[in-house]
Amino acid sequence: MALTGLFLCLFLMVHLSANSILLLPESTARALYNSYSTTLRESLLVKIVAYVLYLSILLHVGYGLLITLANQRAKPKKYAVNTFGENSSWTSQNMGLLGTMVLLFLVVHLANFWARIKLGMGAGVGMDAQGHVDVYEVTYSLFQNLYFVVFYTLLMVPLGLHLHHGLKSAFMTLGFYHKKGLRVLAKVSLVYAAIMAIGFGIIPFIVYLK
Ligand code: HEM
Repeated sequence: MALTGLFLCLFLMVHLSANSILLLPESTARALYNSYSTTLRESLLVKIVAYVLYLSILLHVGYGLLITLANQRAKPKKYAVNTFGENSSWTSQNMGLLGTMVLLFLVVHLANFWARIKLGMGAGVGMDAQGHVDVYEVTYSLFQNLYFVVFYTLLMVPLGLHLHHGLKSAFMTLGFYHKKGLRVLAKVSLVYAAIMAIGFGIIPFIVYLK
């Protein structure tokens, strides 16, 4: 869980940087976003990394499900008194629920983009002036629909909470228990999770307003 989770955290940083291109003026953003996306799809190295990514998602989801079910079986009755913050946070006790919400987001997201662009499913995708698949257009047309904008933005709340606890606990699972270091780690996890949730959450809104 820790290793696949950290790899997914790294992917999200790269993915957010790439998607922030969408916020540039259209004259530069369209060509840059489309050529970046084409380079990724055509590079052998990136193709291999993409398969590692898919495998990491499957392992992370599968093992997460097993752990959540095992925890429920070990403690079928809830605590009579459960004061969050005294021993563990609400987030840490609900990682399964938060992860399921992120998974729901991912299924919709992959159907919106990945299935359309990589698998050629659904409505066809046009080309830009440079002859690249117009991924920019796919994004802009999706975020003209306010339902998708709200869905993408709202689901970044569970993503942020999941990342906040997940990043900290991944380092601890791997044996990081330095007292002062843990305080720094808690702050880094908070900043990381906030940047990811706010960053991914505002892009659809800005695109909609543009
Ligand atoms: C503003 C929000 C987002 C936008 C505009 C966006 C855009 C895209 C696009 C355009 C693709 C297809 C890339 C291509 O094949 O050329 C893609 C793929 C993907 N996205 Fe996102 N994304 C967003 C947020 C997220 C988030 C929050 C996650 C994870 C929780 C995520 C996970 C993925 C994954 C796993 C893929 C497949 C990557 C691959 O096949 O290499 N995305 N996204």
